[in-house]
Amino acid sequence: MSQPPVLISEADIQKRVAELAEEISRDYQDKDDVVLIGVLKGSFIFLADLSRRLTIPRTIEFIAVSSYGNGSVQSGAVRLVMDVRGNIEGRHVLIVEDIVDTGHTLSYLIGMLRSHGPASIRTCTLLHKAERAEVDVKIDYVGFGIGDEWVVGYGLDYAEQNRTLPYIGNVEPTDR
Ligand code: PRP
Repeated sequence: MSQPPVLISEADIQKRVAELAEEISRDYQDKDDVVLIGVLKGSFIFLADLSRRLTIPRTIEFIAVSSYGNGSVQSGAVRLVMDVRGNIEGRHVLIVEDIVDTGHTLSYLIGMLRSHGPASIRTCTLLHKAERAEVDVKIDYVGFGIGDEWVVGYGLDYAEQNRTLPYIGNVEPTDR
């Protein structure tokens, strides 16, 4: 099977993740705890690399959501599949996403997590498709802006394929 063409190389990803970790570590340097919440499944590799490069005290949580819709078509409705395990009340939360596309998932998560009473909520995404935005959602840390293209690798899939590619590659979706 041929490999998807490279959009963002492994070296460029690692360099940018190191920069983001430095920026986040600087911004949270006076906090004694930050809870990184990885949004499954796509964020698992980014979260692993980012969290290991931080120089501040941090704990890891995961959350899982599912969006109604078929294949690559987003409907906008988001449903919680798995909540965080730990208590986030009074704590500093950083949501870690692999990609923000329409913004519905992140917008839902911010609202939902806010109801748990954290001290603060910030957001971080490796990839941002700004031109696809349907809701206004604040993203504090962005790795790379990309166009309206379908991407795989470094945690992202297309039909569950190519999540473990070390780089971000392009694929042609079959249903859009
Ligand atoms: C992707 C991504 C975000 C969401 C972004 O998840 O990880 O959670 O879509 O899209 P939005 O901004 O349009 O809401 P996906 O549904 O592909 O699930 P996965 O991470 O389990 O692959």
